[in-house]
Amino acid sequence: MLFDKIEFVLKDNRKVNISSPTYDDIQGIIDLLKNDAEETIYVIVYPEECESNTPEKEKAIFDRVNNAENELLLLARDGNKVIACAHLSFGAYIKTRHRCFITIQIMKEYWGLGLGSKIFEEFIKVAEKRKEITQMELTFIEGNDRAKALYEKMGFVIVGKKPNAIKLKDGTLLSMFEMVKEIKR
Ligand SMILES: CC(C)(COP(=O)(O)OP(=O)(O)OC[C@H]1O[C@@H](n2cnc3c(N)ncnc32)[C@H](O)[C@@H]1OP(=O)(O)O)[C@@H](O)C(=O)NCCC(=O)NCCS
Repeated sequence: MLFDKIEFVLKDNRKVNISSPTYDDIQGIIDLLKNDAEETIYVIVYPEECESNTPEKEKAIFDRVNNAENELLLLARDGNKVIACAHLSFGAYIKTRHRCFITIQIMKEYWGLGLGSKIFEEFIKVAEKRKEITQMELTFIEGNDRAKALYEKMGFVIVGKKPNAIKLKDGTLLSMFEMVKEIKR
């Protein structure tokens, strides 16, 4: 799916834009994913696991997602710098096509400035336009209070907890929480 470019003013008055990815964003997304893995433990990968994100792979992902009916990838940019990415995917099967799933990650410098809320508002609008969608879903890692606060603000509630889903290099075990937002029809 494609999403036309919109502008958004952050709480500190910086202007950013949000749209589907273009080939100009290929290095930007590679840098963002590695950078986020360095900045927070709450994404699923360690930085060294981002080495496999090559320009060829990102280009193929952009092509797939932009042409898919069941996926939307949004990038936020400050100028040309990619500062956030978020993915919305819709269930592919008859039994799951009432559900959609969100992931999001934003560069630390841009946390707490309303960008996460804006991206969620746009995703919720997209989901609400698809009549078959009755629930939105996501997960977060234990301790990610900022993400939990954003998701609760957007109407998601915790429905489950998977113990010991994440094991850090130092052996720390963390749970993974599942959240759902019902879309009333
Ligand atoms: C989690 C994340 C997406 C949140 O996005 P964001 O742009 O920082 O969120 P917002 O600025 O829209 O804030 C949303 C709400 O969170 C709450 N919040 C903000 N800072 C907070 C903090 N330090 N602790 C707890 N809650 C906080 C506020 O209630 C805010 O609502 P308000 O704007 O009405 O006051 C972003 O911080 C991020 O990408 N983090 C790193 C990667 C990550 O954790 N991704 C999620 C994986 S599940």
